[in-house]
Amino acid sequence: MTLPKNFLWGGDISATQIEGGWSEGNKAPVETDYLISGDKNTPRYAYYQTQDGEIVKSLQFSGKIPKGAKYVLKEGKIYPNHFATDFYHHYKEDIALLGEMGFKALNLTVSWARVMPNGINGGINKEGVEFYLSVFKEMQKFHIEPIVTLYKYDMPAFYITDFGGWSNRQMIDEFVAFAKVCFKKFKKYVHYWVTFNEINILKMTIDGEKDATVKDKQRTFEELHNQFIASAKAIRLAHEINPKNKIGCMICGLFTYPRTCNPEDILANQKYEEDNLFYYADVIIRGHYPSYAKRVWKEYRVDLQITEEDKKILASGKADFLPFSYYFTNCISEDASQKSTLTGITSNTSNKNPYLEETQWGWQIDPKGLKYALEMFSDRYDNFPLLIIENGIGAIDKLEDDHTIHDQYRIDYHREHIKALKEAVDDGVNLLGYTMWSCIDLVSAGTGELRKRYGFIYVDIDDQGQGTFNRYKKDSFYWYKDVIANNGDNI
Ligand code: BG6
Repeated sequence: MTLPKNFLWGGDISATQIEGGWSEGNKAPVETDYLISGDKNTPRYAYYQTQDGEIVKSLQFSGKIPKGAKYVLKEGKIYPNHFATDFYHHYKEDIALLGEMGFKALNLTVSWARVMPNGINGGINKEGVEFYLSVFKEMQKFHIEPIVTLYKYDMPAFYITDFGGWSNRQMIDEFVAFAKVCFKKFKKYVHYWVTFNEINILKMTIDGEKDATVKDKQRTFEELHNQFIASAKAIRLAHEINPKNKIGCMICGLFTYPRTCNPEDILANQKYEEDNLFYYADVIIRGHYPSYAKRVWKEYRVDLQITEEDKKILASGKADFLPFSYYFTNCISEDASQKSTLTGITSNTSNKNPYLEETQWGWQIDPKGLKYALEMFSDRYDNFPLLIIENGIGAIDKLEDDHTIHDQYRIDYHREHIKALKEAVDDGVNLLGYTMWSCIDLVSAGTGELRKRYGFIYVDIDDQGQGTFNRYKKDSFYWYKDVIANNGDNI
């Protein structure tokens, strides 16, 4: 069981969650900059002001704010993404630490709001481009391969307020223009790209909202379609600009099991997989909507206008590899009392699997499910190249007086997942790498907490923004360093 020599060992970070410096370097605000913290049981929300002056709350990712309204910051509230863990000012130190661990790859996002803060009309923001060039140069010193994600729920906020978000087809051109700038400006440094992060999460907003109207559903499917087209166009462009580019579009690993062997549960689970995983992976890999898409649209009562030109774009913009995240699995049942209320990655709270332990945030830990997921994708898509982007455990870590952090639970978590991926590779799965979430502590996307830590590197900052921002190595830091040095052979 030996992994390929060029296996991409590494980690992941994302601009809004790690950078801070939210209003520095001419960066435009993004929706996340307006989100206050929640917790395990409380979702995050932003405030906006309507044209009549009324202040209203809007749930994270809902993207639904009335025409003419503007996001506002409320005095006295804490906005954790404003400071995050301040990678913006600490990136040299952070990259050196990742280099010390022997990282082969780092999956990071380039912030659209830094590079093109005012969209096509506003042009390129030199300061934003310079920042990322400097990050890539630093990575090059340590032979760390960048895997750049272009979109992770972080377009400049004016696209939501003034354009109406992704349901506006103009967004396709806006995104492709931003992608083009990245492909050209960072050509020398970046050869692995990801267009969208967890493209299958968007539908969760209507699935989780019991009052979602047909109009909401129609809009969501249009948004998705526009993202598929934008992704395919960007994929084509990446290949044209540099034939060496490898580019994928990422899926959130919403992997599930039937709750029982009742055939009804088996069918319910199959349907869940079609609606939430394969619908996306099929378009990304095969370049067209699957046969069951018509059933999905009928159930949601949406009428999607797909032009012949759209079909050609999808067919000619297929991905080179499939990146996906993997945190937990869930169970699906036809029985209403057991019904899963999966409403998004942050709320893995329903329909528990009795065979699995869970994290402090209630996410069920299932390393064997990773092997299952890898083999399922590999088999379905003819040994298509896969990449695990994001796998990790959110936990409360204790900083000891001597600045050590004993996070054996994190070592155990990653060890078991690496064992599982090795077994899948041994079975013939074409796996390019494993980049774990989040290598350096950062702000939780779902809850906005800083105490929900995922990193091998501890950052001294708390939920209130109090702390020194000093970096400390956790026990898992030394463990992962050893794993990389041995290419996983010593697991
Ligand atoms: C992934 C997201 O789905 O889940 C990350 O891509 C996120 O941005 C991660 O941080 C873990 O979720 P959370 O809510 O614990 O930050």
